[in-house]
Amino acid sequence: MAGTGVFSPGRAKIDARTLRRDRWWLEPALIFGLLFTFVVYSSVRAFWDTNYYNEDTSLLSPFYSPCLADACVEGSTHLGTPVGDWWALSPALLILILPLGFRMTCYYYRKAYYRSFWFSPPACAVAEPHKKYSGETRFPLIFQNAHRWFFWLTLPYPILLAYDAYDSVHHDGDWGVSLGSAILLFNALLLLAYSLSCHSCRHIMGGRLNHFSKHPIRYWGWVQVSKLNGKHMQLAMVSLVVVGLTDLYVLLTASGAFTDPRIG
Ligand code: FES
Repeated sequence: MAGTGVFSPGRAKIDARTLRRDRWWLEPALIFGLLFTFVVYSSVRAFWDTNYYNEDTSLLSPFYSPCLADACVEGSTHLGTPVGDWWALSPALLILILPLGFRMTCYYYRKAYYRSFWFSPPACAVAEPHKKYSGETRFPLIFQNAHRWFFWLTLPYPILLAYDAYDSVHHDGDWGVSLGSAILLFNALLLLAYSLSCHSCRHIMGGRLNHFSKHPIRYWGWVQVSKLNGKHMQLAMVSLVVVGLTDLYVLLTASGAFTDPRIG
């Protein structure tokens, strides 16, 4: 049977899996470690269902925002509790599905986990172990095309997270800034930058136009989004790490491990 990929008919007959001499495995290995750690940590926290809200300085973990169920801790339900009491599991499980879908279908993360987890291929000029390749044209990977919809559905999240930061500044009618407020705001801004740097966002701004000169506002937006788009990989990774650390900060302060320093 004819091979596929680098073993296809017509490709140079080279038995070695790769002729690369550099440490090509280092990047996929590091990304594997980072993504695996995040998946384990976020799963534990999503099911934990406690210590996600610091009542003293109104810090709400981004994993639990917005908190929409009756079971949410008092003070954490900025949008009310439209879900009511029928949801008995952790409220994080209700809302994490959208950010999870957004990141899972992100063009950058696809490249990252296809390489690090599926070795498809593990790096440029390194043969993959799979015999067949059907791309993203069939089930289940055809659902990667839902990315543009996840973009729209998750666009409100940075605004909601920024509101959480505002709420912690305007705590119980008193104004004051805590370290946690700054961390919440930083996390919201990073998530906004990551969302706006999305390839779908770039297409929405400048796609399907024949003449930029006739659409100066969209052209200006496309130029700005394109600048962010050039940093999409970095924003994807940094925002992932920061959202995890933000949750960890809320966990530590909500559990009483230390006090969130506050001025005012
Ligand atoms: Fe990465 Fe859209 S391509 S978020």
